Amino acid sequence: MSVVSSPVSRVKMIHNFNAGPSVLPKEVFEEASQAVLDFNHTGLSILEIGHRSSLFEPVMNEARALVKELMLLDDDHEVLFLHGGASTQFMQVPMNLLNENELASYTDTGTWAAKAIKEAKLFGHVEIAGSTKETNYTSIPKNLSVSPTAAYLHITTNETIAGTQWKNIPYNCGVPLVADMSSDIFSRVLDFKKFDIIYAGAQKNMGAAGVNLLVVNKNILGKVNRAIPTMLDYRNHIKDGSMLNTPPVFAVYVAMLTLRWLKKQGGVAALEKLNNAKAELFYSTLDSLPVFKGVVAKEDRSEMNAVFVMQDATLEKEFLELCKKENMIGVKGHRSVGGFRISMYNALTIESVKAFTDLMKEFAIKKG
Ligand SMILES: Cc1ncc(COP(=O)(O)O)c(C=O)c1O
Repeated sequence: MSVVSSPVSRVKMIHNFNAGPSVLPKEVFEEASQAVLDFNHTGLSILEIGHRSSLFEPVMNEARALVKELMLLDDDHEVLFLHGGASTQFMQVPMNLLNENELASYTDTGTWAAKAIKEAKLFGHVEIAGSTKETNYTSIPKNLSVSPTAAYLHITTNETIAGTQWKNIPYNCGVPLVADMSSDIFSRVLDFKKFDIIYAGAQKNMGAAGVNLLVVNKNILGKVNRAIPTMLDYRNHIKDGSMLNTPPVFAVYVAMLTLRWLKKQGGVAALEKLNNAKAELFYSTLDSLPVFKGVVAKEDRSEMNAVFVMQDATLEKEFLELCKKENMIGVKGHRSVGGFRISMYNALTIESVKAFTDLMKEFAIKKG
């Protein structure tokens, strides 16, 4: 939720439901803007200091340490901030973990999982451990079939477009567990140290676009026999403390501020409580209004991205116009799904969800 001045200088509340890049805490925006003008009272901008300087190195170190602390990771897990977004990890993961004659197990839960599968096939064999493609990705597969010889199992913990989320993480799948957590990172308590790789683009729950978080259990590296280009080999980034080349300094700084904010809120458990309350408010309203219809199986509904439609599709345009008028931003569904999607990331307040559900009720009464 942010506040802007309109041309007639009335204060307007904006409710930002964008799927990413998306809402961040106001104090993060304030501190980040200040650092662009004068970083830590040095008279220099964060944008003009060397990444290996005594000014920037503490930023990278604190960001990495905060991830370890917030996720309760052990010493086997390394934290890196890399370039290229989560999409680069679709290929970097198999390049580092999967030999050409080996098999990797993937779950097929939507657009993002499908992109990861496509890249993995460039490096080795892929088996589909479970898929909900047949039912338009409106649920999460329940009974996985994972070969014990698979190099790893890949899941997308939250499918941003389909609006589904894994509630039961397959920790005991018997092979290393890899997760794309781009759209629900730090939103709920998970046993993070049980994952061998976690990757996430920062631009939803942990900062600005331009950086990608990677958590890796270092014991699973060094097992492939292909030559890996220097910049794509995780081991080189670990050796150089995530400073193999110039990191995206500003994006790392914003991530560090967001992680500090997260800690101040009470950590992941506190955010989980708030996210549960927001999701409960939204979905209970949705289920109480016959004008609207959820498209995802109830037990697999995402707490981050709620996808829904209208019983009478001809009314959708009118509701979208109403949302626009009331400064509800980012409500239109993804072009591949249609209908509506509201994203309720960590920094979205419950007041924004309340404002949205009030609007849904108002619309339903009008049409009822
Ligand atoms: C689940 C998921 N994975 C991957 C991506 C791709 O991220 P990036 O744009 O950082 O490559 C997205 C982007 O929205 C996503 O939601």
